Amino acid sequence: MIELTHVSKTYAGKDKKAVDDLTWTVEDGKITGFFGPNGAGKSTTLKMICGVNSIDEGSIKINGHDITSDVIEAKRQFAYVPDDPDRFLRLTGAEYLTFMADVYGTPAEKRAPFIEEYGHRFEIFDALNSRISDYSHGMRQKVHVMGALIHEPSVWILDEPMLGLDPKGAYELKEMMREHAARGNSVLFSTHVLETADKLCDSVCIIAHGHKLFEGTLDELKAAHPATSLEQIFLEMTAHE
Ligand SMILES: Nc1ncnc2c1ncn2[C@@H]1O[C@H](COP(=O)(O)OP(=O)(O)O)[C@@H](O)[C@H]1O
Ligand SMILES: [Mg+2]
Repeated sequence: MIELTHVSKTYAGKDKKAVDDLTWTVEDGKITGFFGPNGAGKSTTLKMICGVNSIDEGSIKINGHDITSDVIEAKRQFAYVPDDPDRFLRLTGAEYLTFMADVYGTPAEKRAPFIEEYGHRFEIFDALNSRISDYSHGMRQKVHVMGALIHEPSVWILDEPMLGLDPKGAYELKEMMREHAARGNSVLFSTHVLETADKLCDSVCIIAHGHKLFEGTLDELKAAHPATSLEQIFLEMTAHE
């Protein structure tokens, strides 16, 4: 579970808040979609949840652990797949996965079966002994998803995860998100692509200009705007801001 309480953030040199007084709870056992147009404050929020960005005002707790005052315990709770997968480029995929498994203490006997299963699902098994610098964008993303899941995080956070994935990769990723939530974990992902929402999200949060516009289920959102497509609802809501 992730609890944000009155969270705000202004970047140095900017006069507008990137995130403005955001209070929001991400529940366990669900896939939560975090929607908003470009520049809405999604990545900034996710980076604050993960302790990558500092928080100006308010607080964030992950499974009850405050990301500012109880950092190590808070960080044990989640895995984060950033929007930019150009990391650990000098390692091979296999070295990176071993590194992640070591850092989070994944038992030795769980590693090989995990790498075998997920490597084949993502069709990158045969590339795992090549350096990540030689991977395509989508392959880098896949190996980062594997690095996140190898330690079975309670909370799984992904920033724009569908971008750059091939159809089979996107399908498998959605299945992995469903499986993860079905095991009682929280899955939180951001996107500006609405088609991703339908059939995947149990819950959604919509933001624009750093303000929360809606929090609830997609059915609640549709019920509040009958006879309107999801795309229209989204455009109208974010245009009002
Ligand atoms: N590192 C940064 N320095 C200064 N401003 C930033 C930085 N990152 C994001 N911003 C600004 O914060 C706002 C929110 O950006 P972001 O959180 O990346 O939005 P989103 O992920 O929803 O597209 C935008 O106005 C953006 O220009
Ligand atoms: Mg972003």
